Amino acid sequence: MIFETHAHYDDEAYDNDREELLASMKKNGIGHIINVCATFDSVEKSIALTQKYDLMYSAIGIHPDDIEQFDDDKLGWLEERAKDEKCVAVGEIGLDYHYPEPGRELQKEWFEKQLFMAKRLDKPVIIHSRDAAEDTMKILLSKPMEGIRGVMHCYSYSVETAKELMKRDFMFGIGGVVTFKNARKLVEAVEYLPMDRLLLETDSPYLAPTPHRGERNSSLYIPLIAEKIAEIKGITAKEVIAVTEENASKLFGVAL
Ligand code: NI
Repeated sequence: MIFETHAHYDDEAYDNDREELLASMKKNGIGHIINVCATFDSVEKSIALTQKYDLMYSAIGIHPDDIEQFDDDKLGWLEERAKDEKCVAVGEIGLDYHYPEPGRELQKEWFEKQLFMAKRLDKPVIIHSRDAAEDTMKILLSKPMEGIRGVMHCYSYSVETAKELMKRDFMFGIGGVVTFKNARKLVEAVEYLPMDRLLLETDSPYLAPTPHRGERNSSLYIPLIAEKIAEIKGITAKEVIAVTEENASKLFGVAL
């Protein structure tokens, strides 16, 4: 079945139909979902979802957009919450230089602190990195980060960067962007990457694949992403789904 490795079902975009939507996942072939936290507010909401739904797991961490409220007490609290038995990763954490705020030094500080948290917890990381390839790579490939494993969510960098990341235990999350008309760079990366490094994801409610681009996204659209990867790789969508499910199971330690 499909292993959805990145969605935000605590988002208000699902307030009107969350229950029906999540109840429909299994019969539509979605076997597991990782609900990824981004804000401090999302942590308890995400844990509550994992308690309610069997197929749901959480990733706990703070997105670079929300790190201005961080302090060491909050980090201690986050680490306790991330010990939850259905929390399978630390994330999403990283760097986002698309907008000038929050400042880059502050982003780097809390990215590194959350990476060390993942190391202490011995959990993989889910990384958000936008317009920040150089600093992201510098941090991830540094000596103190040896042993860190995880996924580059919504991978958007070059084949060259992918080669560097493959020297460490990093996987690549592929979502709706691969179906977009202007996705040439990502298509090249998918062509290059071996199947055992790929994971399926949506980033719902964002980044709905073609022909739903611009609409609210959900894990039910993952077959469209799997079909596009299958086309690039010259295999079947069924194979894409099976291999990525196995990859996710291994990385996140979730039994199938
Ligand atoms: Ni996300």
